[in-house]
Amino acid sequence: MVSETVNKKWVLKKRPEGYPSIDDFDIVNSPIPDPKHGEVLIKTLYLSLDPYMRGRLRDAKSYASPVGLGEVITGEVVGRVIRSNYQSLEVGDIVTAHIGWQQWGSIPGQMVRKVDSQKPPISTSLGILGMPGLTAYFGLLEIGKPIVGETLVVSAASGAVGAIVGQLGKMMGCRVIGTAGTNQKVNYIVDELGFDGAINYKTQNVESEIHKLCPNGIDVYFDNVGGEVTDIVMNNLAMYARIIICGQISQYNSVGQEQGPRNLWALIRTRSKIQGMLVTDWERKHEQARTRLSEWVLSEKLKYKEYVVEGFEKSPQAFIGLMNGENFGKLLIHVSE
Ligand SMILES: NC(=O)c1ccc[n+]([C@@H]2O[C@H](COP(=O)([O-])OP(=O)(O)OC[C@H]3O[C@@H](n4cnc5c(N)ncnc54)[C@H](OP(=O)(O)O)[C@@H]3O)[C@@H](O)[C@H]2O)c1
Repeated sequence: MVSETVNKKWVLKKRPEGYPSIDDFDIVNSPIPDPKHGEVLIKTLYLSLDPYMRGRLRDAKSYASPVGLGEVITGEVVGRVIRSNYQSLEVGDIVTAHIGWQQWGSIPGQMVRKVDSQKPPISTSLGILGMPGLTAYFGLLEIGKPIVGETLVVSAASGAVGAIVGQLGKMMGCRVIGTAGTNQKVNYIVDELGFDGAINYKTQNVESEIHKLCPNGIDVYFDNVGGEVTDIVMNNLAMYARIIICGQISQYNSVGQEQGPRNLWALIRTRSKIQGMLVTDWERKHEQARTRLSEWVLSEKLKYKEYVVEGFEKSPQAFIGLMNGENFGKLLIHVSE
């Protein structure tokens, strides 16, 4: 039974120029949708906020279509099935689904993924056992191909993707160095996650720290940020390095021309490879990877951190905060119990 009647949703009011502002978003009320044949009605428990959403607010060529003006902002949630017209899902099941920034959504049952609610907390299905964890796993292992004793550098290293990349790198026997934007984040990745070194890219001289921490050069670079940090890493590659271009968050709010890379000559000198990635490229192997990640989480080989903001109304503020490094761990909105 559904006793509530109103579905709140965040829609795109206008396209942000530069950093998004609260005025770019609008909250609207609508009736709770009725699931059609083959659909399920989901009540959102947690909404995942991710950097890729900034790209969807822009009307530009990308790997996915932009959100239209007045449309619900794209996003994945973990929620409870409240009504089911789909034979493989029952009322009460916990699922993830791309219903966007809204409290309720009706969606074809075949488009949702059932979550094991007995295993790690369900919020992890949007983080370490969801899109960010899988990104770290496939990007590092399939493109980075780290070898014991190599030096791995990861940017945005305390974040949802970066923290997993660094820990997987340690499991592979690498020397791991991370960059992050506060001393608290830098201390966390060294003291709690076991990184070998960390650089606060906002307060330290990244170039001299890289020289100090990576005396033999960088074999694998997992790039989440682009911009100046990436330029410096490119100038300090070891021979036959692998560079994984996962994200370029330092450029997502730029209004002018994108920055760099300006030093591709480094690839010729070191015979290195650079490759862009998208986590969905490994869709057929996601379940296999999720099982491994889940075992490592349960055996505490992998640690994770979540940054949970209470209240659906706070979604735009929290998203803007993500672009400024306010989140410390995977950013989630706690929408309902
Ligand atoms: N290709 C794919 O399939 C895929 C999938 C998932 C994510 N990604 C990308 O991976 C990256 C990390 O995503 P995430 O989910 O793990 O986010 P996250 O790291 O949890 O959060 C974003 C972090 O980026 C850092 N940041 C923000 N502005 C920055 C700037 N100008 N320069 C440097 N760092 C900045 C901030 O940390 P600091 O305090 O350290 O600055 C912020 O906390 C993003 O670029 C995202 O687009 C790609």
